[in-house]
Amino acid sequence: MFKAILIENEQRNSPPQVVELDESRLPEGDVSVAVEYSTLNYKDALAITGKAPIVRHYPMIPGIDLAGVVRESSVPEFKAGDAVLVNGWGLGELHWGGLTQAARLKAQWLQKIPAPLTARQAMAIGTAGYTAMLCVLALEADGVTPGNGPVLVTGASGGVGSFAVALLGRLGYEVIASTGRPEEADYLKALGASEICDRAQFSSPGKPLAKERFAAAIDCIGSHTLANVCASLRYGGTVAACGMAQGLDFPASVAPFILRGITLRGVDSVYCPMDIRKQAWSRLAELVLPATIDAVLHEIGLNEAIGRAPEVLAGKIRGRLLVNVNR
Ligand SMILES: NC(=O)c1ccc[n+]([C@@H]2O[C@H](COP(=O)([O-])OP(=O)(O)OC[C@H]3O[C@@H](n4cnc5c(N)ncnc54)[C@H](OP(=O)(O)O)[C@@H]3O)[C@@H](O)[C@H]2O)c1
Repeated sequence: MFKAILIENEQRNSPPQVVELDESRLPEGDVSVAVEYSTLNYKDALAITGKAPIVRHYPMIPGIDLAGVVRESSVPEFKAGDAVLVNGWGLGELHWGGLTQAARLKAQWLQKIPAPLTARQAMAIGTAGYTAMLCVLALEADGVTPGNGPVLVTGASGGVGSFAVALLGRLGYEVIASTGRPEEADYLKALGASEICDRAQFSSPGKPLAKERFAAAIDCIGSHTLANVCASLRYGGTVAACGMAQGLDFPASVAPFILRGITLRGVDSVYCPMDIRKQAWSRLAELVLPATIDAVLHEIGLNEAIGRAPEVLAGKIRGRLLVNVNR
Protein backbone atom coordinates (compact mmCIF):
# COMPACT_ATOMS: atom_id res chain seq x y z
CA MET A 1 0.00 0.00 0.00
CA PHE A 2 1.11 3.57 -0.59
CA LYS A 3 -0.27 7.03 0.08
CA ALA A 4 -1.12 9.48 -2.69
CA ILE A 5 -3.30 12.47 -3.44
CA LEU A 6 -6.16 11.25 -5.61
CA ILE A 7 -8.55 13.32 -7.72
CA GLU A 8 -11.43 10.88 -8.17
CA ASN A 9 -13.54 12.36 -10.95
CA GLU A 10 -14.31 15.33 -13.15
CA GLN A 11 -17.49 16.24 -11.31
CA ARG A 12 -15.42 16.70 -8.15
CA ASN A 13 -18.30 15.57 -5.99
CA SER A 14 -15.57 14.31 -3.68
CA PRO A 15 -12.66 16.75 -3.25
CA PRO A 16 -9.07 15.54 -3.81
CA GLN A 17 -7.76 13.76 -0.76
CA VAL A 18 -4.86 11.68 0.51
CA VAL A 19 -5.78 8.01 0.16
CA GLU A 20 -4.08 4.63 0.57
CA LEU A 21 -3.84 2.65 -2.65
CA ASP A 22 -2.76 -0.88 -3.41
CA GLU A 23 0.38 -1.17 -5.56
CA SER A 24 -1.60 -3.29 -8.02
CA ARG A 25 -3.35 -0.07 -9.07
CA LEU A 26 -0.11 1.48 -10.37
CA PRO A 27 -0.13 1.92 -14.16
CA GLU A 28 2.01 -0.04 -16.60
CA GLY A 29 5.65 1.02 -16.85
CA ASP A 30 9.29 -0.08 -17.04
CA VAL A 31 10.52 1.39 -13.78
CA SER A 32 9.02 1.44 -10.26
CA VAL A 33 10.13 4.35 -8.11
CA ALA A 34 9.91 4.90 -4.36
CA VAL A 35 9.05 8.59 -4.48
CA GLU A 36 10.70 10.80 -1.86
CA TYR A 37 9.85 14.34 -2.94
CA SER A 38 7.56 16.16 -5.31
CA THR A 39 6.57 19.82 -5.54
CA LEU A 40 3.43 21.92 -5.67
CA ASN A 41 3.56 23.90 -8.91
CA TYR A 42 1.08 26.37 -10.38
CA LYS A 43 -0.18 23.62 -12.71
CA ASP A 44 -0.64 21.19 -9.79
CA ALA A 45 -2.62 23.84 -7.94
CA LEU A 46 -4.86 24.25 -11.00
CA ALA A 47 -5.32 20.47 -11.14
CA ILE A 48 -6.08 20.10 -7.42
CA THR A 49 -8.54 23.00 -7.28
CA GLY A 50 -10.08 22.13 -10.67
CA LYS A 51 -9.66 25.77 -11.77
CA ALA A 52 -8.38 24.70 -15.21
CA PRO A 53 -8.72 21.47 -17.21
CA ILE A 54 -5.23 20.15 -16.46
CA VAL A 55 -6.34 16.59 -15.68
CA ARG A 56 -7.23 14.69 -18.86
CA HIS A 57 -8.64 11.53 -17.29
CA TYR A 58 -9.68 10.22 -13.91
CA PRO A 59 -8.87 9.05 -11.34
CA MET A 60 -5.61 11.05 -11.35
CA ILE A 61 -2.70 11.49 -8.99
CA PRO A 62 -1.55 15.11 -9.54
CA GLY A 63 2.06 16.29 -9.45
CA ILE A 64 4.11 17.21 -12.52
CA ASP A 65 7.45 16.16 -11.07
CA LEU A 66 9.05 13.73 -8.65
CA ALA A 67 12.38 12.48 -7.32
CA GLY A 68 13.15 9.22 -5.60
CA VAL A 69 14.90 5.87 -5.82
CA VAL A 70 14.39 3.08 -8.36
CA ARG A 71 12.92 -0.04 -6.73
CA GLU A 72 12.55 -2.26 -9.78
CA SER A 73 13.46 -1.83 -13.43
CA SER A 74 12.95 -3.91 -16.56
CA VAL A 75 15.40 -1.83 -18.62
CA PRO A 76 19.22 -1.82 -18.45
CA GLU A 77 19.47 2.02 -18.26
CA PHE A 78 18.14 2.02 -14.68
CA LYS A 79 18.73 -0.33 -11.78
CA ALA A 80 17.42 -0.65 -8.25
CA GLY A 81 18.94 2.03 -6.03
CA ASP A 82 19.42 4.66 -8.76
CA ALA A 83 18.42 8.17 -7.68
CA VAL A 84 16.12 9.53 -10.40
CA LEU A 85 13.93 12.51 -11.23
CA VAL A 86 11.10 13.21 -13.68
CA ASN A 87 9.71 16.54 -14.92
CA GLY A 88 6.63 16.79 -17.11
CA TRP A 89 5.93 14.22 -19.85
CA GLY A 90 2.24 14.55 -18.91
CA LEU A 91 2.69 13.49 -15.26
CA GLY A 92 -0.29 14.74 -13.27
CA GLU A 93 -2.18 15.41 -16.52
CA LEU A 94 -2.24 12.20 -18.58
CA HIS A 95 -0.26 9.86 -16.33
CA TRP A 96 -0.29 9.41 -12.57
CA GLY A 97 1.99 12.07 -11.14
CA GLY A 98 4.40 12.78 -8.32
CA LEU A 99 2.23 13.55 -5.27
CA THR A 100 2.51 9.93 -4.19
CA GLN A 101 4.82 7.55 -2.35
CA ALA A 102 5.04 5.12 -5.29
CA ALA A 103 5.11 5.48 -9.08
CA ARG A 104 5.53 3.26 -12.10
CA LEU A 105 6.90 5.10 -15.11
CA LYS A 106 8.20 4.83 -18.65
CA ALA A 107 11.98 4.63 -18.64
CA GLN A 108 12.33 7.35 -21.28
CA TRP A 109 10.86 9.91 -18.86
CA LEU A 110 13.51 9.30 -16.19
CA GLN A 111 16.82 11.04 -15.61
CA LYS A 112 19.47 10.16 -13.07
CA ILE A 113 19.84 12.96 -10.53
CA PRO A 114 23.14 14.66 -11.36
CA ALA A 115 25.78 14.84 -8.61
CA PRO A 116 26.07 16.52 -6.19
CA LEU A 117 22.30 17.03 -5.94
CA THR A 118 20.23 14.90 -3.56
CA ALA A 119 16.61 13.92 -4.32
CA ARG A 120 15.49 16.64 -1.89
CA GLN A 121 17.64 19.28 -3.58
CA ALA A 122 16.56 18.13 -7.04
CA MET A 123 12.90 18.62 -6.15
CA ALA A 124 13.59 21.86 -4.29
CA ILE A 125 14.81 23.01 -7.71
CA GLY A 126 12.02 21.00 -9.35
CA THR A 127 10.16 21.97 -12.48
CA ALA A 128 10.47 25.65 -11.55
CA GLY A 129 14.27 25.64 -11.46
CA TYR A 130 14.49 23.41 -14.52
CA THR A 131 12.17 25.75 -16.45
CA ALA A 132 14.20 28.76 -15.34
CA MET A 133 17.33 26.98 -16.62
CA LEU A 134 15.62 26.26 -19.96
CA CYS A 135 14.87 30.00 -20.19
CA VAL A 136 18.53 30.83 -19.52
CA LEU A 137 19.60 28.28 -22.17
CA ALA A 138 17.17 29.95 -24.62
CA LEU A 139 18.73 33.37 -23.96
CA GLU A 140 22.23 31.93 -24.32
CA ALA A 141 21.26 30.23 -27.61
CA ASP A 142 20.30 33.69 -28.84
CA GLY A 143 23.75 35.04 -27.97
CA VAL A 144 22.72 36.94 -24.82
CA THR A 145 25.69 37.48 -22.48
CA PRO A 146 26.10 39.47 -19.26
CA GLY A 147 27.84 42.18 -21.29
CA ASN A 148 24.67 42.88 -23.30
CA GLY A 149 22.95 44.73 -20.47
CA PRO A 150 20.26 44.25 -17.82
CA VAL A 151 17.93 41.24 -17.89
CA LEU A 152 14.37 41.50 -16.57
CA VAL A 153 12.69 38.63 -14.69
CA THR A 154 8.91 38.89 -14.21
CA GLY A 155 7.05 37.02 -11.47
CA ALA A 156 10.38 37.13 -9.66
CA SER A 157 9.16 35.96 -6.23
CA GLY A 158 7.52 32.83 -7.65
CA GLY A 159 9.17 29.46 -8.24
CA VAL A 160 10.43 29.97 -11.79
CA GLY A 161 11.18 33.64 -11.14
CA SER A 162 13.24 32.96 -7.99
CA PHE A 163 15.45 30.45 -9.81
CA ALA A 164 15.72 32.68 -12.88
CA VAL A 165 16.99 35.51 -10.65
CA ALA A 166 19.43 33.17 -8.89
CA LEU A 167 20.78 31.56 -12.08
CA LEU A 168 21.22 34.84 -13.94
CA GLY A 169 22.83 36.41 -10.87
CA ARG A 170 25.25 33.48 -10.54
CA LEU A 171 26.16 33.84 -14.23
CA GLY A 172 27.05 37.49 -13.71
CA TYR A 173 24.03 39.20 -15.27
CA GLU A 174 22.59 42.45 -13.99
CA VAL A 175 19.13 41.22 -12.97
CA ILE A 176 16.07 43.45 -12.65
CA ALA A 177 13.41 41.58 -10.65
CA SER A 178 9.80 42.56 -11.34
CA THR A 179 7.42 41.73 -8.49
CA GLY A 180 4.12 42.74 -6.96
CA ARG A 181 5.61 42.07 -3.55
CA PRO A 182 8.03 44.87 -2.61
CA GLU A 183 8.38 43.24 0.82
CA GLU A 184 10.38 40.48 -0.92
CA ALA A 185 13.09 42.93 -2.07
CA ASP A 186 15.69 41.63 0.41
CA TYR A 187 14.94 38.01 -0.56
CA LEU A 188 15.32 38.82 -4.27
CA LYS A 189 18.53 40.80 -3.74
CA ALA A 190 19.99 37.93 -1.70
CA LEU A 191 19.17 35.59 -4.60
CA GLY A 192 20.99 37.79 -7.11
CA ALA A 193 18.80 40.73 -8.17
CA SER A 194 20.53 44.09 -8.67
CA GLU A 195 17.30 46.06 -8.73
CA ILE A 196 13.62 45.51 -7.92
CA CYS A 197 10.80 47.00 -9.99
CA ASP A 198 7.03 47.12 -9.51
CA ARG A 199 5.16 44.67 -11.72
CA ALA A 200 2.31 47.22 -12.06
CA GLN A 201 4.34 49.05 -14.71
CA PHE A 202 3.92 46.04 -17.04
CA SER A 203 0.43 44.77 -16.18
CA SER A 204 -1.90 47.16 -18.07
CA PRO A 205 -2.31 47.70 -21.83
CA GLY A 206 0.76 49.64 -23.04
CA LYS A 207 2.21 51.30 -26.14
CA PRO A 208 3.55 49.26 -29.10
CA LEU A 209 7.05 50.58 -28.32
CA ALA A 210 8.32 51.72 -24.94
CA LYS A 211 11.70 53.01 -23.77
CA GLU A 212 14.47 50.49 -24.61
CA ARG A 213 15.46 49.19 -21.18
CA PHE A 214 16.34 45.49 -21.14
CA ALA A 215 18.81 43.46 -23.19
CA ALA A 216 16.75 40.35 -22.47
CA ALA A 217 13.97 39.04 -20.26
CA ILE A 218 12.52 35.89 -18.72
CA ASP A 219 8.74 36.19 -18.52
CA CYS A 220 6.55 34.04 -16.27
CA ILE A 221 3.44 36.16 -16.67
CA GLY A 222 2.15 36.38 -20.29
CA SER A 223 -0.73 38.71 -21.28
CA HIS A 224 -0.12 42.50 -21.09
CA THR A 225 3.05 41.92 -19.09
CA LEU A 226 4.69 39.95 -21.91
CA ALA A 227 3.49 42.51 -24.47
CA ASN A 228 5.01 45.36 -22.44
CA VAL A 229 8.22 43.41 -21.86
CA CYS A 230 8.57 42.95 -25.64
CA ALA A 231 7.97 46.68 -26.12
CA SER A 232 10.69 47.49 -23.53
CA LEU A 233 13.48 45.33 -25.00
CA ARG A 234 16.54 46.99 -26.44
CA TYR A 235 17.28 46.63 -30.13
CA GLY A 236 17.95 42.93 -30.94
CA GLY A 237 16.84 41.78 -27.47
CA THR A 238 15.34 38.39 -26.58
CA VAL A 239 12.58 37.35 -24.23
CA ALA A 240 12.16 33.75 -23.10
CA ALA A 241 8.45 33.28 -22.34
CA CYS A 242 7.41 30.37 -20.12
CA GLY A 243 4.37 31.40 -18.10
CA MET A 244 0.84 32.71 -17.98
CA ALA A 245 0.29 33.91 -14.40
CA GLN A 246 -1.55 36.99 -15.70
CA GLY A 247 -3.18 35.24 -18.66
CA LEU A 248 -2.76 33.06 -21.73
CA ASP A 249 -3.43 35.98 -24.06
CA PHE A 250 -0.71 37.98 -25.78
CA PRO A 251 -2.15 41.39 -26.68
CA ALA A 252 0.99 42.68 -28.40
CA SER A 253 2.01 44.60 -31.52
CA VAL A 254 4.55 43.53 -34.12
CA ALA A 255 6.34 46.88 -33.69
CA PRO A 256 9.19 45.63 -31.44
CA PHE A 257 9.72 42.65 -33.77
CA ILE A 258 9.87 44.60 -37.04
CA LEU A 259 11.37 47.85 -35.76
CA ARG A 260 13.78 46.56 -33.10
CA GLY A 261 14.42 43.02 -34.33
CA ILE A 262 13.53 41.44 -31.02
CA THR A 263 13.09 37.68 -30.57
CA LEU A 264 10.42 35.87 -28.59
CA ARG A 265 11.50 32.36 -27.54
CA GLY A 266 8.86 30.02 -26.19
CA VAL A 267 9.97 27.63 -23.45
CA ASP A 268 8.23 24.33 -22.74
CA SER A 269 9.42 22.09 -19.95
CA VAL A 270 6.91 19.24 -20.41
CA TYR A 271 7.95 17.70 -23.73
CA CYS A 272 11.42 19.24 -23.96
CA PRO A 273 13.78 16.69 -25.58
CA MET A 274 15.96 14.62 -23.25
CA ASP A 275 19.30 16.00 -24.50
CA ILE A 276 18.25 19.54 -23.56
CA ARG A 277 16.88 18.33 -20.20
CA LYS A 278 20.19 16.66 -19.41
CA GLN A 279 22.03 19.84 -20.34
CA ALA A 280 19.67 21.89 -18.14
CA TRP A 281 20.04 19.58 -15.11
CA SER A 282 23.79 19.40 -15.46
CA ARG A 283 23.97 23.22 -15.47
CA LEU A 284 21.60 23.34 -12.48
CA ALA A 285 23.82 20.91 -10.54
CA GLU A 286 26.77 23.18 -11.26
CA LEU A 287 25.11 26.57 -10.72
CA VAL A 288 22.54 26.28 -7.95
CA LEU A 289 24.12 26.82 -4.56
CA PRO A 290 22.80 24.94 -1.49
CA ALA A 291 22.17 28.35 0.11
CA THR A 292 19.88 29.28 -2.80
CA ILE A 293 17.92 26.05 -2.36
CA ASP A 294 17.53 26.75 1.38
CA ALA A 295 16.37 30.30 0.70
CA VAL A 296 13.82 29.27 -1.93
CA LEU A 297 12.22 26.12 -0.50
CA HIS A 298 9.47 25.63 2.03
CA GLU A 299 8.88 21.97 2.89
CA ILE A 300 5.40 20.57 3.45
CA GLY A 301 3.91 17.07 3.82
CA LEU A 302 1.56 15.27 1.42
CA ASN A 303 -1.41 16.07 3.69
CA GLU A 304 -0.73 19.82 3.48
CA ALA A 305 -0.41 20.01 -0.30
CA ILE A 306 -4.18 20.08 -1.02
CA GLY A 307 -4.81 22.94 1.41
CA ARG A 308 -1.93 25.04 0.04
CA ALA A 309 -3.09 24.90 -3.61
CA PRO A 310 -5.33 28.03 -3.45
CA GLU A 311 -2.39 30.05 -2.05
CA VAL A 312 -0.26 29.01 -5.02
CA LEU A 313 -2.95 30.25 -7.43
CA ALA A 314 -3.27 33.50 -5.47
CA GLY A 315 0.49 34.10 -5.99
CA LYS A 316 1.05 34.08 -2.21
CA ILE A 317 3.85 31.50 -2.10
CA ARG A 318 7.40 32.76 -2.12
CA GLY A 319 9.77 30.43 -3.97
CA ARG A 320 9.00 26.70 -3.94
CA LEU A 321 6.71 24.38 -2.03
CA LEU A 322 8.68 21.13 -1.70
CA VAL A 323 6.45 18.16 -0.84
CA ASN A 324 7.99 15.44 1.31
CA VAL A 325 5.61 12.61 0.41
CA ASN A 326 6.68 10.52 3.41
CA ARG A 327 6.02 13.27 5.97
N1 LIG B 1 6.44 26.58 -19.86
C1 LIG B 1 6.59 25.65 -18.94
O1 LIG B 1 6.95 24.51 -19.21
C2 LIG B 1 6.32 26.03 -17.51
C3 LIG B 1 6.96 25.37 -16.47
C4 LIG B 1 6.74 25.82 -15.15
C5 LIG B 1 5.88 26.87 -14.93
N2 LIG B 1 5.23 27.45 -15.98
C6 LIG B 1 4.34 28.59 -15.79
O2 LIG B 1 5.15 29.69 -15.36
C7 LIG B 1 4.41 30.51 -14.47
C8 LIG B 1 5.16 30.64 -13.17
O3 LIG B 1 5.20 29.36 -12.53
P1 LIG B 1 5.66 29.27 -11.01
O4 LIG B 1 5.70 27.84 -10.66
O5 LIG B 1 6.85 30.14 -10.79
O6 LIG B 1 4.38 29.93 -10.31
P2 LIG B 1 4.34 30.76 -8.96
O7 LIG B 1 5.34 30.23 -7.99
O8 LIG B 1 2.90 30.80 -8.57
O9 LIG B 1 4.82 32.22 -9.38
C9 LIG B 1 4.07 33.05 -10.21
C10 LIG B 1 4.42 34.49 -9.88
O10 LIG B 1 3.79 35.32 -10.83
C11 LIG B 1 3.43 36.56 -10.24
N3 LIG B 1 1.99 36.76 -10.48
C12 LIG B 1 0.98 35.97 -10.02
N4 LIG B 1 -0.21 36.44 -10.49
C13 LIG B 1 0.08 37.53 -11.25
C14 LIG B 1 -0.71 38.45 -12.01
N5 LIG B 1 -2.04 38.35 -12.07
N6 LIG B 1 -0.10 39.45 -12.66
C15 LIG B 1 1.25 39.57 -12.62
N7 LIG B 1 2.06 38.74 -11.91
C16 LIG B 1 1.48 37.72 -11.25
C17 LIG B 1 3.77 36.45 -8.76
O11 LIG B 1 5.09 36.99 -8.62
P3 LIG B 1 5.37 38.33 -7.79
O12 LIG B 1 4.62 38.20 -6.51
O13 LIG B 1 6.85 38.36 -7.63
O14 LIG B 1 4.84 39.46 -8.63
C18 LIG B 1 3.86 34.95 -8.54
O15 LIG B 1 4.72 34.62 -7.49
C19 LIG B 1 3.03 29.87 -14.35
O16 LIG B 1 2.15 30.47 -15.26
C20 LIG B 1 3.29 28.41 -14.72
O17 LIG B 1 2.13 27.79 -15.22
C21 LIG B 1 5.45 27.05 -17.25
